Amino acid sequence: RLLIIDFGSQVTQLIARRLRELSVYCEIHPYQNVTDAFLAEFAPKAVILSGGPDSVTREGSPRAPQSVFEMGVPVLGICYGQQTMMEQLGGKVVSGHGTAEFGRAFVTPNAHKLDLLNGWFGNDKEQVWMSHGDHVSQIAPGFEVYGTSPNAPYAITADASRHFYAVQFHPEVHHTPNGAKLYENFVKIAGFSGDWTMAGYKDQAIAAIREQVGDKQVICGLSGGVDSSVTAVLLHEAIGEQLTCVFVDHGLLRLNEADEVVKMFRDNYKIKLIHADEAELFLGELDGVSDPETKRKIIGKLFIDVFQKYANGIEGAEFLAQGTLYPDVIESVSFSGGPSVTIKSHHNVGGLPEKMGLKLVEPLRELFKDEVRALGLELGLPASFIGRHPFPGPGLAIRCPGEITREKLAILQQADAVYIDQIRKHGLYDEIWQAFAAILPMKTVGVMGDGRTYDYAVAIRAVTSVDGMTADTYPFTHEFMGETMTRIINEVKGVNRVFYDLTSKPPGTIELE
Ligand code: XMP
Repeated sequence: RLLIIDFGSQVTQLIARRLRELSVYCEIHPYQNVTDAFLAEFAPKAVILSGGPDSVTREGSPRAPQSVFEMGVPVLGICYGQQTMMEQLGGKVVSGHGTAEFGRAFVTPNAHKLDLLNGWFGNDKEQVWMSHGDHVSQIAPGFEVYGTSPNAPYAITADASRHFYAVQFHPEVHHTPNGAKLYENFVKIAGFSGDWTMAGYKDQAIAAIREQVGDKQVICGLSGGVDSSVTAVLLHEAIGEQLTCVFVDHGLLRLNEADEVVKMFRDNYKIKLIHADEAELFLGELDGVSDPETKRKIIGKLFIDVFQKYANGIEGAEFLAQGTLYPDVIESVSFSGGPSVTIKSHHNVGGLPEKMGLKLVEPLRELFKDEVRALGLELGLPASFIGRHPFPGPGLAIRCPGEITREKLAILQQADAVYIDQIRKHGLYDEIWQAFAAILPMKTVGVMGDGRTYDYAVAIRAVTSVDGMTADTYPFTHEFMGETMTRIINEVKGVNRVFYDLTSKPPGTIELE
């Protein structure tokens, strides 16, 4: 196994992700915990020193145990890790002096070959992502320079005989397009065969949950979405009866969804599940409300109240499990300069654990969405369930612009079910990132048979996207759209018109509210 010593960089988890992609087993441990005794017991086959926010030039700043360099294993230092490595092995690091580099840079090779750089410099230079104030001013004895950027003369250095490699940039981020190749070369050098799998991750996660929770009771909020479902099933495998799930049913779910969730988790998985059927409460509070933000706030607040009410009834609970993913943890601001305006207030139970005096269990914290799906499959969740499109916390409320009524909700549920059935029948479901129907706040005139109709209009939406941040409209054929229109109007009473939403994001958002 490979050890990543974490010096606090915001992208350390991305290193683990790159290694998982290579089927290499690794663990991240904060530098404070990595003592000589720890190292002896862990017996890593290779070590990676992560980046970090501190300055090596500051007295008392973090270091790796010197024994890391005496174990005879390959070591890769990244950014801060590279600087402490140089320092600890006899080189020098200096601060600032106009040589800070943030963002894209280009590294050019020197004449010598290095095994770490196989597959690099095909075009004589590689784009890399830099983020450093300090830089190495003198390399350690035994090291040679293999790559240089305008502001980092020692962008890539190595002591090839000892398999010590040091890079100033971050090969783990996607702004270093060829970075994965460096990790591939590094693990090859270290002798990893790349046979580690998601089954291994599952076992590791189960062991970690058991260790954290002991014999205590755990509450898990289950929404029926992929993340909370995988969390619940994983916890159930780890601690069985110590888990109770609370499923808050706000009456704004898709057709038959509540029944399906209860059936699957209670009957198939035998998970203790409380079905908090509070549709009356939610729809009552939403009665007459048409402002989107007000709707979201009402639902968000009630959701927390209801969850708390049911959770309080669970004797002896000490932990709250959440399906937090790594992208929720990482502060994307550091790499993308994130948004500062609230476009929509998202569902957020962030403050809940402290308020309820519960400790958090977040077994998906290290994973990305696609990895959560792979873990779900490993846990035996059906592929059709794992591959479901995202569904927003406020549910159908934000697909029903204007006032929400039971009548409109029922029409919407049916129209949506027909639409999704159409998409599945045509084999398009997996090509689309998210598809749904919305019911518009208007009635229009139509003619059916010999009679005049005056009914609701439904909008159908389908988008492709990578992460929901931007989206393109899915290009259905006219034939498909015609067939879908006919089916919705024929099969759903109360609808006499169908619109197709052509809007990309931006300028639109994916949901209508
Ligand atoms: P928008 O509409 O902001 O949606 O373009 C982007 C993605 O986020 C989902 N979404 C939400 N998910 N709580 C959620 O859990 C919310 O309040 C919420 N609002 C939007 C939306 O379905 C899409 O996938």
